[in-house]
Amino acid sequence: MDEEERMRERTLVLLKPDAVKRELVGEIISRFERKGLKIVGMKLIKFDKELSQKHYQEHVNKPFYPDLEKFITSGPVVAMVLEGPDAVETVRHIVGATNGRKADPGSIRGMYSNSFSRNLVHASDSKEAAQREISLFFKPEELIDWERDDFFYYASDE
Ligand code: CMP
Repeated sequence: MDEEERMRERTLVLLKPDAVKRELVGEIISRFERKGLKIVGMKLIKFDKELSQKHYQEHVNKPFYPDLEKFITSGPVVAMVLEGPDAVETVRHIVGATNGRKADPGSIRGMYSNSFSRNLVHASDSKEAAQREISLFFKPEELIDWERDDFFYYASDE
């Protein structure tokens, strides 16, 4: 993989219904922005059972799946694609361990989640999963390439 590709790695992040209903969306997104991850796709969606089964395909037959499906379909979800160097690993690190009670206290889950299942955020766990999950939620034309630009801090003629 070349350096350019590594710097532009993309990953899927979902802010789950607990994040939306606890009004933590802005707080959580700002953590990613401040880390230097670039938002290249974002929308508010509502999961139905079919989307849940597709997204959580490896968990469908697990005992906890019925509760997971009930939870993920219970309210709006913010779906985002974040881009940056080693984005998959970096985002997982900021999000923290699955169990909010065990997650590093500086991580998003460590700061805001006191639960194993209501853990605020989903983040792709590998580059392969990221590709699959991004294509589940976003069409290619919904992902926007953009560059940081001083133009938006002040006008040159002011
Ligand atoms: P997430 O990163 O979205 O991926 C799968 C989710 O299943 C996980 O977060 C947890 O919130 C949820 N989950 C609920 N119970 C379990 C369990 N016993 N083992 C693993 N994941 C679980």
